[in-house]
Amino acid sequence: MTSRFEPVIIGFLCNWCSYTGADLAGVARLQYPPNLRPIRVMCTGMVHPNLIMEAFTAGADGVTIMGCHPGACHYFEGNTKAALRAEVISMVLGDIGVDPARFELQWISSAEAPVFARLVTEFTRKIKKLGPHKRKILDR
Ligand code: FES
Repeated sequence: MTSRFEPVIIGFLCNWCSYTGADLAGVARLQYPPNLRPIRVMCTGMVHPNLIMEAFTAGADGVTIMGCHPGACHYFEGNTKAALRAEVISMVLGDIGVDPARFELQWISSAEAPVFARLVTEFTRKIKKLGPHKRKILDR
């Protein structure tokens, strides 16, 4: 796609791990693309699938959920629920004409600022390659 395309990526980041990792990346002045629009949530388990659909409906080119590693969720099983929902979300996205590759679930601990920066960089590159989200079904 065009090299000028700058995707809008919505990220639901859990307060305890990923958001803190993102914060640490900022404090450490790690470089990563500015395309991510972080939304802090208490746990990935509270990210309802409707929020993902709404993000795409509103024009997001990509959506990511970032949470605590398996076994490290502060609410015990929130990230397990998120992982199960992510599988369903990917299937539904395909059904409604949104490339499931535009959606990801990632695990990042509060100490993994470099991992946060790398994953944001990789996801942004992937979305740039996919090009703008055309909202085929959602714009009708
Ligand atoms: Fe981080 Fe549940 S508290 S995923």
